[in-house]
Amino acid sequence: MDADHQQPAQPVSYDAELRLHNEALRRACGIQLRDHVLDIGCGAGQTTRQAARAAPAGSALGVDVSAAAIAGAREVAQAEGLRNVAFERADAQAYPFPPERFDLAISRFGTMFFDDPAAAFANTGRALRPAGRLVMMAWQARERNEWDAVIRPSLGIGQAAAAAAGEPDPFSLADPPAVTRILEAAGFAGVTFTEVREPVYYGPDVTAALDWVRGFQCTSQALERLSPSHAARAVERLRGALAAHATDDGVWLGSRAWIIAAQRR
Ligand SMILES: C[S@@+](CC[C@H](N)C(=O)[O-])C[C@H]1O[C@@H](n2cnc3c(N)ncnc32)[C@H](O)[C@@H]1O
Repeated sequence: MDADHQQPAQPVSYDAELRLHNEALRRACGIQLRDHVLDIGCGAGQTTRQAARAAPAGSALGVDVSAAAIAGAREVAQAEGLRNVAFERADAQAYPFPPERFDLAISRFGTMFFDDPAAAFANTGRALRPAGRLVMMAWQARERNEWDAVIRPSLGIGQAAAAAAGEPDPFSLADPPAVTRILEAAGFAGVTFTEVREPVYYGPDVTAALDWVRGFQCTSQALERLSPSHAARAVERLRGALAAHATDDGVWLGSRAWIIAAQRR
């Protein structure tokens, strides 16, 4: 693993899991003082709040389909006293954003789960001013992500089983030619892919990491499909696999992501 994660082990959260990825995305976004930023699939809103701080004379709007995520994001932003940030519960595929309102649309792993990516990116494009930018982070292919290679075999689930179970596909934007075609058809140009090769953080120790991974939707769904005795064995396999990645500063697994950037034509 090519990690530079020299920090004391900290409690795990989604923001902690992606701390190193977040820094790469922040740099790539290059948000300016007056930018108006749209954060797609903003979740708990860390990237939206960061955008608002980077654009004190602009604004940031975070949207997510999850009402709970939006409520949590609003609470944190209010507690932090941010005045130029807002959150809306919205499906980015169809929400009537104000046309040509935003300079930049960003996303940290929030654009991989669309039922209709063509509609979603066309809708995002309409919200951007001409030449406005899209900068989003998405996972590279499954086989390039150590975290997937550790979790799925431990649980005894293959790719086909996951697809058959109707799980959302975190690798749906992994293929550069396919994504370029989708973005160009949605009105974007100059599509680029920059590799981010940083590990994900799963917690300060194996017990914390196991709890964290058991909270993933794919894990809980897989365990529910097993009998109690098979599920118990799968959990022990997972514990063993995570233990193999424990270090003095926590449990880290390799990953590869893309930063996908494009410009509205
Ligand atoms: C992996 S999470 C990432 C959350 C956030 N960007 C972060 O990095 O903390 C993906 C998010 O995308 C949201 N999402 C999925 N489909 C969406 C859609 N059609 N419109 C808006 N948000 C969506 C989910 O609710 C979830 O919060």
